[in-house]
Amino acid sequence: MFRRISTQNSFAHPFLAVFGKRYYKKKSWKMQRKKASSLENFQTFYAEQFGEDWPSLFESLKLPTQHCAVVNRFSTHREAHAKLSSITAVQRHNIPPFNSTPNEDEDDQNQFQLPCYLPSSENIRFPKQEKTSNGYFDYYLLDASSLLPVLALDLNPESTVLDMCAAPGGKSVLISQFLSINGCLVTSEVVNHRRANLIQVIKDYIPKISKTKDLVQVRNLTGYKYGEYEPCTYDRVLLDVPCSSERHNLQTNFEFSLWSDQHSKANANMQRKLLMSALQTVVPGGIVVYSTCSMSPLENDGVIDDVLSKCSEDKRLKIEVVNSHFASHSLADMFNYRTTRNGVLVFPSKTKNWGPMYFCKLRRFAIESEVDSQYRI
Ligand SMILES: C[S@@+](CC[C@H](N)C(=O)[O-])C[C@H]1O[C@@H](n2cnc3c(N)ncnc32)[C@H](O)[C@@H]1O
Repeated sequence: MFRRISTQNSFAHPFLAVFGKRYYKKKSWKMQRKKASSLENFQTFYAEQFGEDWPSLFESLKLPTQHCAVVNRFSTHREAHAKLSSITAVQRHNIPPFNSTPNEDEDDQNQFQLPCYLPSSENIRFPKQEKTSNGYFDYYLLDASSLLPVLALDLNPESTVLDMCAAPGGKSVLISQFLSINGCLVTSEVVNHRRANLIQVIKDYIPKISKTKDLVQVRNLTGYKYGEYEPCTYDRVLLDVPCSSERHNLQTNFEFSLWSDQHSKANANMQRKLLMSALQTVVPGGIVVYSTCSMSPLENDGVIDDVLSKCSEDKRLKIEVVNSHFASHSLADMFNYRTTRNGVLVFPSKTKNWGPMYFCKLRRFAIESEVDSQYRI
């Protein structure tokens, strides 16, 4: 009775109209100033990292993101292949994981390759994904650099895998492509609306194994807790952490105003804790792949250095960085990348417009007391 809900302009009153406009003008002016100073700090920070490569890298970061299409093996994939192969300037590649060794058995080899369509020229736009006749979507579109952390995971069909920061779910879909019904994928996401999207993506792309069994479970447990609640549980952990996402943020006015090296340091702090948890929840002998879509060394090699040094003080957690074998993979040529102290950093150029993506592969060792206890009768 007392509240009238107006469907009209909220600045209908002349005073409110003037006040409101001034308020928003002031706010947007403040935002512009904040963005300008963020941009200046950003330029200084990265010019130092990349030297003479920086100006062209900066221009490439502003280009629209390019996509590749990974065919969903759970769809009626003939329909997907027919649709994608009819696009001109797109080429099919069957992509094996980085560790794969040539296999005599052809069936086995097919199981381990991702059918992927890559643009052979710039500005290719793929048609929208659609459901095939069995009800599952035909392909997933993503920046090709997103394939890399998954290909580095050394997956086998029976792996028990945790995707610790999973929404919107592109990498979960990729992981599922390598698993058989004896494998298992747990995906975690803490933000409610992002988890809802993740659940939808999984429903759209991945079938249930049976009425009572799922290949993929979705959880809302924070990544920080896995180490404590489920120690030594997963064969493989993908930790694709929240990060500064410079390319994405550079293209969205609002978020870029938040960029600062302090912000990157705060991210690194959170990423270190997530990585410690990932290393505790993986089984001894298991693999953790840490990845970001940031170029900040604080969030990349810096996080790995800190965690390695922390683990060297902890007798229960022996960790080493292992070679991902990316550089010798047939895919490497299509990326612009640097091999860093601990991993690989892919960053876009005008002709190889993929990334940024950093990834590092870590193995947890069995500690001596565990090895002893295995042989103790
Ligand atoms: C970089 S995105 C992951 C992208 C995803 N791997 C993909 O390829 O589609 C990071 C995600 O981690 C989520 N996240 C943030 N803090 C988290 C936490 N403590 N535990 C688990 N997920 C978290 C964010 O909400 C965000 O959705």
